[in-house]
Amino acid sequence: MHLNRRLLLLASLVPRGDVVYDIGCDHALLDIFLTLYNQNECYAIDQKESALKMARKNIASYHVEDKIEVLCQNGFATMEIKESTVVIAGMGTKTILDILEGREESPFKKIIIQSNNDYEELRRVMMQRGYKITEEHVLFDNKIWYVVLTFIKGVAKYSPFALKFGPLLKKDCSIEKKLYYTYLIEKRKEILKKLPRGHLGKKLEIKKEIVWLTHACRTKERK
Ligand SMILES: C[S@@+](CC[C@H](N)C(=O)[O-])C[C@H]1O[C@@H](n2cnc3c(N)ncnc32)[C@H](O)[C@@H]1O
Repeated sequence: MHLNRRLLLLASLVPRGDVVYDIGCDHALLDIFLTLYNQNECYAIDQKESALKMARKNIASYHVEDKIEVLCQNGFATMEIKESTVVIAGMGTKTILDILEGREESPFKKIIIQSNNDYEELRRVMMQRGYKITEEHVLFDNKIWYVVLTFIKGVAKYSPFALKFGPLLKKDCSIEKKLYYTYLIEKRKEILKKLPRGHLGKKLEIKKEIVWLTHACRTKERK
C-alpha cells in the first residue's frame, strides 16, 4: 500500500508489535500500514463518524478488521488505556494538548506528535506535564514543513530558544534540519523587512532568533 512521506515517517517511529492509539485517525491509513507491516494492534479513534466511514471501508479493503478497533469518540474518552504507543497527527497544538490532558499517569511507552502549529507551546506544556523529548524530525512534503516529535515520561528543562526551535533538532546534522532552519531564518528576515519603524523590542527578538538559528545551522557531526 502507498503512504505519503509524512505518514511513512510517523509509521517508522512506532515500535514493532506495540498496541497503538491513533487519535484522529481519519482515513486510518496509518493503522492499516502498521498492522500489515509492523505487527501492531491499533485503536483507530476519531470524533467524526464521517471520517470513520471511510476508515472502515479502507480497513475492510485490506482485510485487517481483526487488528484494528474503530472507535468514534473524543480522544481517549473513558476507555481504559493499555501499555501503548500513541500517535496524534494532523491537528493543532491546542487540540493535541486537550486530548492528552490528565493522561500523565497512563502507561504510554511513547507519544508521537505531529502538530500543525505552535511547537513551542507543545514542547513547553509537555515539559511542564513531566515529559521529555526523545526524537525530533523535520520533513518537507507537498510544499509544507512538518515537525514530528516523540515524548516519553521524564524530566527535562529546555531553554527558551530550544523550546521554540527544538532542543534535539539543534544538534541534528541532517540536511533536512539545515534546510528547515534556513527556511525559518528566511521567514524572519522577511518579517524584519516588513516591520514598520519602531518595534525595537520585536526587531531585537527576531534578530536574536536569527543568530541562534544561524549558529545552530553550523552544527557539525561530532566524531
Ligand atoms: C487532519 S485529520 C488528520 C488525520 C491523520 N491523523 C493524519 O495525520 O493524516 C484530523 C482528524 O482528527 C480528528 N479529531 C480532531 N480532534 C479530535 C478529538 N478530540 N478526538 C478524536 N478525533 C479528533 C478529526 O475529526 C480529523 O479526522
